Amino acid sequence: MTETSGTGGTTGESRTSGEVWVVGATGRVGRGVTARLAARGLTVVPVGRSRERMIAAAAEAGLPGDAKVVVAGSAERIAEEIVRERPRVVVNTMGAFAATALVIARACMPGGHYVDQANDVVAVDRLLALHDEAVRAGSALVTGAGFGVLATEAVVAKLCEGRPAPHRVRVDSVASVAIEAGAFGAALAASMVDALAAGGRRYENGRPVTSRLGAGPQQLNLPDGESAKSAGFASGELTAAHAASGAPFVTATSALVPAAPPARALLPPLGRLLSVPALRSFAAGRLARVRIKAAPRPRTHSWGHAVVEWEDGTRREGWLRAGDGMDYTAGVTAAVTELLARGVGRPGAWTPAAALGADLATTAGGTFVLD
Ligand SMILES: NC(=O)c1ccc[n+]([C@@H]2O[C@H](COP(=O)([O-])OP(=O)(O)OC[C@H]3O[C@@H](n4cnc5c(N)ncnc54)[C@H](OP(=O)(O)O)[C@@H]3O)[C@@H](O)[C@H]2O)c1
Repeated sequence: MTETSGTGGTTGESRTSGEVWVVGATGRVGRGVTARLAARGLTVVPVGRSRERMIAAAAEAGLPGDAKVVVAGSAERIAEEIVRERPRVVVNTMGAFAATALVIARACMPGGHYVDQANDVVAVDRLLALHDEAVRAGSALVTGAGFGVLATEAVVAKLCEGRPAPHRVRVDSVASVAIEAGAFGAALAASMVDALAAGGRRYENGRPVTSRLGAGPQQLNLPDGESAKSAGFASGELTAAHAASGAPFVTATSALVPAAPPARALLPPLGRLLSVPALRSFAAGRLARVRIKAAPRPRTHSWGHAVVEWEDGTRREGWLRAGDGMDYTAGVTAAVTELLARGVGRPGAWTPAAALGADLATTAGGTFVLD
């Protein structure tokens, strides 16, 4: 194994090496992505804050014994290494995307590509705002490359294919995830706290408006006979469903948001508390250290769902079925990364189906169930 030396590797301003860097290769998503990309023959470089853990991650993923690793412990330090070495694609699984995504994505430009799994609305909207910069730089930046965003965005795109823009869209995201024993983890804790702090949002007359966190609770009868409850929050799914459909009225719910009345009543005050930055980082820090027990996934499948309505009264409904939501996320990120590494994809900042088409959802292991 070799650490980067900080010399060489730069191939010119807009040219990149053939390497794919995985930031957070020891994490749950990062491990899955590293193993999948290594198995597909890509030159994968684990990036993280501990040399020992990166070497172990490389070995676990089946990378060769002399595989390169990069040691850097903050988005800023990682960005410096990217600028120096110009990898072709950087996968960011370190979380806290509202803070880390822009720093790392900007370092990939010009010419390099970027992928993350953000699904809080702040992080997704910030990354998408880099679109013009990315086009000029010849870089593809893909955010929301996970169950959250793709599983609903792809269904909306399928239902709207070849039709005029609908009037109203609702998307529901029902991830089913097995829990690994251990600490909750900083990345997931930051995502949950950021999502709560972002509150609720919907599109009305084509504009994003604030709504109550936990609004519009749904009781969903899933196609496999199981059921789930979900409620509204300001997710990347909302942004993507609006962009994919062009509908003026869009709402998004998630099964991660408690839909039962007592818990739902607590969400708005909790969200307001967490909008104070000091309280937010305190809460994320505490949550990250919470020890959790292993548990099987609560439902057989993860489901993305969309209901699309046109002004003439036409209504279409569809689902995307996947297995464990975390495994599917690793599958989506790996599929997007491989395509970008092989030169497929357009410059710009995108959600995954917007970048690479709705069938990416099946390439990554999902199955459409459309009416
Ligand atoms: N869109 C979706 O559907 C979806 C699905 C699943 C996950 N996610 C999101 O994806 C992210 C990753 O999830 P996960 O479950 O894989 O998290 P995780 O297991 O906690 O992994 C996070 C990784 O990031 C690394 N990391 C954290 N802080 C770092 C720093 N300052 N510098 C360098 N590396 C750092 C960690 O390294 P150490 O070993 O040093 O701690 C670890 O390897 C989370 O934000 C999560 O919310 C999204």
